[in-house]
Amino acid sequence: MTHIAVLGSTNMDLVAYVEKAPQRGETVTGREFRTIPGGKGANQAMAAARAGATVSMIGAVGNDAFGTRLRDTLEHSGVDTDSLRTVEGPSGTAHIVVDDEGGNAIVVIPGANGTVDHLTPGDEGVIASADALLLQLEIPLDGVLAGALAARRHGVRTVLTPAPARPLSAELLAATDLLVPNEHEAATLTGRTDPRDAALSLLDQVPEVVVTLGSVGCLYLQRDAEPLVVPAPRVTAVDSTGAGDTFAGALAVALSEERPIREALTWAAAAAAISVQREGASVSMPYRPEIEALYTA
Ligand code: RIB
Ligand code: NA
Repeated sequence: MTHIAVLGSTNMDLVAYVEKAPQRGETVTGREFRTIPGGKGANQAMAAARAGATVSMIGAVGNDAFGTRLRDTLEHSGVDTDSLRTVEGPSGTAHIVVDDEGGNAIVVIPGANGTVDHLTPGDEGVIASADALLLQLEIPLDGVLAGALAARRHGVRTVLTPAPARPLSAELLAATDLLVPNEHEAATLTGRTDPRDAALSLLDQVPEVVVTLGSVGCLYLQRDAEPLVVPAPRVTAVDSTGAGDTFAGALAVALSEERPIREALTWAAAAAAISVQREGASVSMPYRPEIEALYTA
């Protein structure tokens, strides 16, 4: 079985479902409120575990009720939480508005995730034993870089989702094997709004780039190879929160199983397409048989 390590955030998602998100100064009445475990790191861990890998989650939760539920949810999906610390103070929270088109707007309060700015010797051991390390940007950049450099030292593939979007150091990009931005993040990193131009310029710094294009699919570029465009299955989205995390988690599993790139991308796109048809981030992620069913369809 492939083994995936994830270094990143855990958040409790506080989700308001509304017809249309409010503008500044406006109050709207929503339909429903739910608390759903999320955070880009935990989402990727759950996606990878459900897609069929053994997974270890490195990060931190607070010593509050949210922290207990976040840890339990990960364990319930089979994620090893021995490297998920419990620290004094609140867990991370994400305040999310989901509209009737399945789109969202999110405010993240880092809480315990803000303490993940370094690795312990134990964390490095977990990374060393993995086939791939998944990284995102909801913990301090010092933590992300420490993880990427540890992976490099041990020859472990690094997959970085540069979300939430922000500029990155040359050092972090140099320690990244596969970068998985969405269109907006690719534009933030490069100043180029066309995804193909953005991906091309990112290839100066990372060997492989996948730009996710939402319902359109994704675009894959590698140095010295023709670009690949992989369409997404056509589905009706009810909640796209965590779709990018589902894609990254499933992709890492397929690549660690040494499946060819087009197949791996198609498989990951199928996983993401399933997740957007259900409410919530982590809880909407498909199990391997569901991905296989849509993939072969
Ligand atoms: O990528 C989706 C995630 O972003 C949500 O689960 C929320 O926690 C935010 O961090
Ligand atoms: Na979803």
